[in-house]
Amino acid sequence: MSPFTATDKVTTTKLLEMKQKGVKIAALTCYDYTSARLLNDAGVDVLLVGDSLGMVMLGYENTLPVTVEEILHHTKAVKRGNGRALLVADMPYLSYELDIKEAVRNAGRLIKEGGAEAVKLEGGLEISVAVKEMIKVNIPVMGHLGLTPQAINRLGGYKVQGRKPQDAEKMLTDAKVLEGAGVFAIVLEAVPADLAREITKRVSVPTIGIGAGPNVDGQILVAQDMLGLYSENPPKFVKRYANLRETVSKAVSTYCAEVRDGKFPQPEHAYAPAATKSK
Ligand code: KIV
Repeated sequence: MSPFTATDKVTTTKLLEMKQKGVKIAALTCYDYTSARLLNDAGVDVLLVGDSLGMVMLGYENTLPVTVEEILHHTKAVKRGNGRALLVADMPYLSYELDIKEAVRNAGRLIKEGGAEAVKLEGGLEISVAVKEMIKVNIPVMGHLGLTPQAINRLGGYKVQGRKPQDAEKMLTDAKVLEGAGVFAIVLEAVPADLAREITKRVSVPTIGIGAGPNVDGQILVAQDMLGLYSENPPKFVKRYANLRETVSKAVSTYCAEVRDGKFPQPEHAYAPAATKSK
């Protein structure tokens, strides 16, 4: 049973409470106003304006070209449709790795201009100073370990991470470092289920899995994947809850056929004749 009512605003501290009480966190990505309203109405706890928007919304080959301006633009739209969910904005590639002041300024823009309530960064030890500096100016940070898509060229593809004992050990260490730096949650992406369970046991903050099995504190998926909108072949860890590609395709081809056959519009879709002045 959820310890929160459906209208309780979700905050970073509520997520911690959920972990402590064993209440699973349901998170989804979200990139626009209409979806934000729908996902809120359906009771999603966390909306992430992920840099996956580069692929899903903008048609880029991967997440690397995404800019702070693009994340800002989409975060503002989601903010306008958001209510109860915690709104987290992703920090795009090279917006936080090179210079700490620039990293904090970019994170601050997502909060101050975009209306995000937290930011997400990919990486472990190497980003821990940036995480601490952001928290010093009251910006809550979510971590992201395992398959970190901004490192795709170094990782050599979208592959499960942490299979070798030394990689698993490093991920455990990184999770503890992030916890120590002050993150309020950690996303674990494409991680063997037993390693995700171990990390979840060892850190006090909630873990949110995507391809990390059931023994984590919550789950996140790209909304377009679980709705069957984006790709014909989503990753193995995606469960399709709907096939909106088929639904949209059927609706649009019916519309096209009805326009061409003169079946749309019907009289009920037209305005009554304009009143003419009688002399
Ligand atoms: O950008 C994104 O959508 C993400 C999630 C997959 C966690 O980082």
